[in-house]
Amino acid sequence: MKALVLSGGSGTRLRPITHTLAKQLVPVGNKPVLFYGLEAIAAAGVTETGIVVGDTRAQIEAAVGDGSRFGLDVTYVWQREPLGLAHAVKTARDFLGDDDFVLYLGDNVVLDGITDFVERFRECRPAAQILLARVDDPRQFGVAQVAADGRVTGLQEKPRHPRSDLAVVGVYLFSAAVHKAVAEIEPSARGELEITDAIQWLIDHDLRTDAGVMTGYWKDTGNVPDMLEVNRLVLRSLEPSTAGLVLDSEISGQVVVGPGARVTGSSIVGPAVIGAGTTVTNSRIGPSTSIAEDCRIADSWIRDSIVMPRASITGVRPLESSLIGQDVEIARTPGPSGAHRLVLGDRSQVRVAS
Ligand code: DAU
Repeated sequence: MKALVLSGGSGTRLRPITHTLAKQLVPVGNKPVLFYGLEAIAAAGVTETGIVVGDTRAQIEAAVGDGSRFGLDVTYVWQREPLGLAHAVKTARDFLGDDDFVLYLGDNVVLDGITDFVERFRECRPAAQILLARVDDPRQFGVAQVAADGRVTGLQEKPRHPRSDLAVVGVYLFSAAVHKAVAEIEPSARGELEITDAIQWLIDHDLRTDAGVMTGYWKDTGNVPDMLEVNRLVLRSLEPSTAGLVLDSEISGQVVVGPGARVTGSSIVGPAVIGAGTTVTNSRIGPSTSIAEDCRIADSWIRDSIVMPRASITGVRPLESSLIGQDVEIARTPGPSGAHRLVLGDRSQVRVAS
């Protein structure tokens, strides 16, 4: 069995962060979202992995390399334009050959991994197997109807009037039968070759498609609140450790202080992680906060947030529910004016307290 991880696309709902960073590389718990998926694939015993990349291919390749540090053997597949999930499968046809494969959407996080799901496919060998989760608002997902015996009877992509509350999770298992389906379908109204339509084609041609309903945590990390939610969850499973220097400070709960970090006169409330080489001075950090590598935090309070590498935050109290990009600088306005002074890139979002 092989794996195909989709890491192209545009990430419009995460702008401005995604103007400069692939959405799959946004860190949660100081680790790119994509890495959770790669770890789950390796844990399921799959090694040969294709990663579909688009405009952000250089960043993804720099972050993942040859995959050896995950125990994977990675091949990159260039998709010229994000023309749909089924289009990505079509683009990867040479890499996939006639092998079974797990298709994993690179922005999805499945906290309990995919091992049981992969095992079940190996045992039952249907043409396709999908993973479903009950959600409150299925309209933003693929939606499935399932018969009592676990077979999928119908699928719709982001329907206005969903026929069930079962959303399609971004992890699919396929036999080589899917390639015929992908070749036969037409682009949808939004101009994409939908994997949902390819699976519907299999069902319409009496090719067995099974479903499993998951009970663990799953998130399609499309926007900032999603990223913060996943961050809160992954931080809870951190093993506390202090590799850096902690002086005149109070540390409580699950806290990781990375190597070369320096925490002085501060209070860190877990779960929280302070990245390697970061300095935290006279500040309160946490809970549910990830500060990445080489940041400078001084005289600030930060909770329930993600701060990306090399950001500098000084004299900001309090800061919450925020996603701060790489090399961002936030500081108090000098002098008595008390006014906010902002230099914001296109599509930035700022909420001020006054
Ligand atoms: O997350 C689950 C949902 O994923 C399913 O319920 C839907 O049925 C399925 O269509 C998909 O919907 P999204 O709208 O969330 O897909 P998105 O465009 O976000 O793409 C998912 C991942 O695949 C993302 O990491 C970007 C990548 N991608 C996407 C497209 C369209 C590619 O690599 N190439 C592409 O052409």
